[in-house]
Amino acid sequence: MNKPRVIVTQRTTHEGLLAELSRLDEHCDVRRASGAALTHDELKNWLQDAEGWITGGEKIDAQLLESAQKLRVICQPSVGYDNIDVAACTSRHIRIGNTPGVLTEATADLGYGLLLAAARKITEGWDYVRGGDFGRGEAFPFGVDLYDKILGIVGMGQIGVAIARRARASGMRIIYHNRKESAQAGELQARYVDMNELLTESDFVLLLTPLTPDTRKLIGAEQFTLMKKTAFLINMARGLVVDTDALVHALQTGKIAFAALDVTDPEPLPADHPLLKMDHVLISPHIGSATNETRTRMERLTVDNLLAGIFGRPMPQCVNPDA
Ligand code: DGY
Repeated sequence: MNKPRVIVTQRTTHEGLLAELSRLDEHCDVRRASGAALTHDELKNWLQDAEGWITGGEKIDAQLLESAQKLRVICQPSVGYDNIDVAACTSRHIRIGNTPGVLTEATADLGYGLLLAAARKITEGWDYVRGGDFGRGEAFPFGVDLYDKILGIVGMGQIGVAIARRARASGMRIIYHNRKESAQAGELQARYVDMNELLTESDFVLLLTPLTPDTRKLIGAEQFTLMKKTAFLINMARGLVVDTDALVHALQTGKIAFAALDVTDPEPLPADHPLLKMDHVLISPHIGSATNETRTRMERLTVDNLLAGIFGRPMPQCVNPDA
């Protein structure tokens, strides 16, 4: 019997991930991209006979799917799937696999790490030491305490809860906004508030919400006006949850104090972007889940999803099981 054709456009050179991907070889006829990203035309060509696809985060819409008449399952090693038109997939009976759960703690570490690094000026401290200024210690600008400060979390899912636990250990007070109240709110002594109250009250505003039509540019000029002038914004969600031009303006005009971002819009930022020239900004390159252990678990789950989906079994994590 012919093996089903699977394409892998995720490009990686990490050994652990390649080892997970190699599990496909026994069961599937795998075509794997390496080197430069495929052009749109190459991708359409690869999709012609593909029944399964492990993506590299490409935009997947109805038009692209026209080239993928045999496709039955799309998987990607990420919890977010805002690059995929889910309705277009479901109507074509294409199931989508993602990787929630396995990246919670690593992403929470990075989110809390960015918050802490921003509050305590850790990267400025390193620049200071490297610049030979250690001896002038009294000139180093002070940071701010976390203890007794208010952390406002927008999007209180698993990662929000995991960051809230870390924040509680530092003595922070937690408020949050979410579609529904969190079952863990009691344990975290976290208070549910509306969005305006969250923006007005928070010393640190942490974004974790998925990108949807409702959350696109959720934080813009109006929201920056509500925030404290001393507030820190931390974005661990998607770049498009924030209106980047409004963020630049808010930082330039002192409407907020600091932005720490693991995600940006556009991503990556062009080399001449104003955010890259500001002192009160800290940006990491979308590495929330980027640890050996976590990325390996994500890849394992992606391959498990793919194999289950392509052989008609229930997928361990499926966005649209009714497809
Ligand atoms: C996720 O899992 O969604 C991460 O942001 C990587 O895209």
